[in-house]
Amino acid sequence: MNLTKKEQKYEGKAKKVFLTEDPNYYIVSYKDDATAFNGLKKGTIIGKGAINNRVTNFLMKMLETKGIPTDYVEELNHTETIVKACKIVPLEVIVRNIAAGSLAKRLGLKEGEILKSTVLEFCYKDDELGDPLVNSYHIAALGLCSKEDLATITNYALKINDILREYLKQDNIDLVDFKLEFGKLNDGTIILADEISPDTCRFWDSTTHEKLDKDRFRRDLGNVEEAYHEVIKRLMGEN
Ligand code: TMP
Ligand code: ASP
Repeated sequence: MNLTKKEQKYEGKAKKVFLTEDPNYYIVSYKDDATAFNGLKKGTIIGKGAINNRVTNFLMKMLETKGIPTDYVEELNHTETIVKACKIVPLEVIVRNIAAGSLAKRLGLKEGEILKSTVLEFCYKDDELGDPLVNSYHIAALGLCSKEDLATITNYALKINDILREYLKQDNIDLVDFKLEFGKLNDGTIILADEISPDTCRFWDSTTHEKLDKDRFRRDLGNVEEAYHEVIKRLMGEN
């Protein structure tokens, strides 16, 4: 597609989104900036923008082949991608297979404990409120999305979990938990949007349980860049 970046539509903590000549498409530009704890901790992870862009596109393309509609259109270069213009549903959809992070803390579980069944959580995307946990009643009461759209999102999120878990097993990676965002096209279709990367997933080495994700930055564990490189290397064979 012959599209170029026009006016900046939005700048988030890890990405910028630009309008293009065509209102049906945006160009996303991934940054090396890293934040945690709702922006309280700030830093840079060298090469993160390129890795997250390429890993996201690789996984989005793989998910498309398995019947998940996504916003992916075309990778322009290592940090920039054309995506379908959609209206983001203001929910962070979190899927968990193993207890970690805020779930372990909230419910007093040991990090690494395998959950007896998959946990699905929704957080209301609102930085000022710190993205609070909400349930289907809150989502309806606040009008964040329709009942039908929530059912579609739930089905996709659980299916994506099955596909990704199975896929990552081949690379000796355990999918501990991850966060998804969905968008709505003008015709009402729900599609997977945003990113799937070491910023938004917990990836543990299946054998050593070494963390290969943003927790290395959040928790000052060191070897942050190395962990991001290890993920792209295992998925795409890149060095
Ligand atoms: P949590 O355990 O801190 O709630 O995180 C759950 C998952 O969501 C984890 O894989 C990291 C991801 N996540 C994001 O993508 N963005 C965020 O702002 C937060 C807090 C978590
Ligand atoms: N991206 C989030 C932030 O800065 C938090 C996180 O990923 O831990 O707020």
